[in-house]
Amino acid sequence: MYLLFVALICLFLYYYTTKNHDYWKKKGVKHDKPIPLFGNNFRQFFQMASMTQMATEMYWKYPNERFVGFYRATRPELVIRDPELVKAILVTDFAHFYPRGLNPHKTVIEPLLKNLFFADGDLWRLLRQRLTPAFTSGKLKAMFPMIVERAEKLQEIALETASTGKTINIRELMARYTTDFIGACGFGIEADSLNDENSTFRKLGKRIFHISTKQALTNLLKFCYPEIFKHLEYFPPEMKESVLHLMKTVMEQRNYKPSGRNDFIDLLLELKEKGKIVGESIERNNPDGSPRQVDLELDDMLMASQVFVFFGAGFETSSSSTSFTLHQLAFHPEEQKKVQQNIDEVLKKYDNKLCYDAVKEMQYLEMAFYESMRMFPSLGFLIRTCAKKYKIPDSNVTIDEDVSVFIPVQAMHTDEKYFEEPHKFKPERFHPNAAKNIKKHVYLPFGEGPRACIGERLGLMQSMAGMAALLHKFSVEPAEESLKNPIVDPNATLVQYIKNGLPLKLVARS
Ligand code: HEM
Repeated sequence: MYLLFVALICLFLYYYTTKNHDYWKKKGVKHDKPIPLFGNNFRQFFQMASMTQMATEMYWKYPNERFVGFYRATRPELVIRDPELVKAILVTDFAHFYPRGLNPHKTVIEPLLKNLFFADGDLWRLLRQRLTPAFTSGKLKAMFPMIVERAEKLQEIALETASTGKTINIRELMARYTTDFIGACGFGIEADSLNDENSTFRKLGKRIFHISTKQALTNLLKFCYPEIFKHLEYFPPEMKESVLHLMKTVMEQRNYKPSGRNDFIDLLLELKEKGKIVGESIERNNPDGSPRQVDLELDDMLMASQVFVFFGAGFETSSSSTSFTLHQLAFHPEEQKKVQQNIDEVLKKYDNKLCYDAVKEMQYLEMAFYESMRMFPSLGFLIRTCAKKYKIPDSNVTIDEDVSVFIPVQAMHTDEKYFEEPHKFKPERFHPNAAKNIKKHVYLPFGEGPRACIGERLGLMQSMAGMAALLHKFSVEPAEESLKNPIVDPNATLVQYIKNGLPLKLVARS
C-alpha cells in the first residue's frame, strides 16, 4: 500500500513537472530535450549560467533556425534568431507582444513591481503615456546641471584615488557616480555615495540587485506556481517602506508641488497635478471594436514605484556600460587617445566646461560607448510575452498566449554575420558612415519599439558626461589583476554584470 502511494506521488510529480514538454515537438520547432521539473533551465535555476548565457547558448546551438524552442521548468519559450522576426515582435506586431510578462501573476502584483518596466497591459500603457513627457530633451537639458555637478565630483574622487596609485574597481566608482546622480535626479536628495561608499543610497542600489537565496527561492516558487504563491512578495517589506517613506518625505517637503529642481519628483508631481491618467485600453475593446477608455490614479505608492524603477533601470545599466567602456579603453590605448582628443577638442570650444551641448558633440566617445554596449549589452536579451495567439510569418508555427519570446541581444551583437571580427573593440563601426550599414534590428542595447528604453537619452548623456569628466583628466590603464576578457557573473538574471568588478589604474594626464 505504502509503495503504491509513493509510486502514485512520483507519477503525479512526473506528470506535473513534464506537462507541456511536448509543446514545441508538436509544433515542429527544434529544441533541446527538456528534463522533468527544470525543462532546459536547470543551470540557470541553480545559478550556474545567467539568463543571457542560456539564451546565447540556444542561439548558437541552432544556427540554421529562425527560432528555437526552450522550456523554463514547464513553460515553453521561444528564442528568436531572425532579425525580421525581431522587428515583427518588437515593432510591427507589438499588439501581440506588449507584455514583458515578468510578473508571474497577472492581477496580484506587489507594489514595487507596479512600475513601468514590470507593468503590463493597461497599467503599462497608461504609465508609459504619462511618463513619456518626463524624458523629452527639454527636461533632460534642465536636469543636466545636476549631472555635471556629479561628474565634477567624480573627478575629485578620482584625483584622490589616482594620487594613492592604488588599483581601483572602476565598476564601483561608476556605480557611485550613477547612484549620486539618480539620488539627485530621481529622489531629489544628496545621496553622497561618491564620498561615502557605504551611504544608505549606495546600499539600496546594491540591495536591489543582490539576489538573496530567499529571493531566488521565492522567485522559483512564484514562477512555477503563480496561483499558489501569488501573495508572496519578492522584495522584503522594509524595502517597500523605505522607498515610500523617502518619496513621501521629499514630496511633503515640497508641499506636493513642483519645486523647480527639475528632478523626477518634480516631474511626477507635475504629472500628478494633471489628475487621473485617462487613455485607450490595449487589452479590451468595446462591442463595436473600438478600444475601451481606461483610467488610473497616480497615488504615492505608484509614484514611488516609478522612481524605484528609474533607480533600478538606470543605475545598473549605466554603471555597467560606462565601466565596461573604460575597461575596453584601458586595453586599447590607441582608441583611448582618440577619445581623449575628441573630449579635449570639444571641451576647449566650451571653455573647458562640461555641458549638455558639449557632451552631445563628443562623437568619438559616443562611438566607443556604443561599441562597448555591442560587446557587452547590460540587458543581454529582451523579453516579450505573447498576449494573443500569433502565427509566425512565413512558417506554420502559431504560438499561444503567455508564451514568452526571447531576443538574444548578446548573441546577435557578437555574430560575425552582422559584425566583422565581433570580439574586437572597434569604435569605428559606429562612425555614422559605417553605422548606417549595420543590419537593422540586430543592434539593440536600448531595445526597440514602443517598449524600448524610456531613459535612453538620459542614460546616454549621463554616462557620457561621467566618462568625459574622467577621461579629460585621467587615463585608464589595466591593473595587474585586470582580465582582458572579464568573467560574466552566472548569477545575473535580467541585467548581466561582470564578476568581481573591473580593476583598473587611474593615471592623471599631464
Ligand atoms: C546606458 C543606460 C541604459 C541602458 C543600456 C538601458 C537599456 C534598457 C533596455 C535594453 C530596456 C528594455 C527595452 C526593451 O525591452 O525593448 C530598457 C527599458 C527601460 N529603461 Fe533603460 N537603459 C538605460 C538607462 C535608463 C535610465 C537612465 C532610465 C530611467 C531613469 C531607464 C529606464 C527604463 C525603463 C523605465 C524601461 C522600461 C520601459 C518600458 O517597458 O516601457 N533606463 N532599458
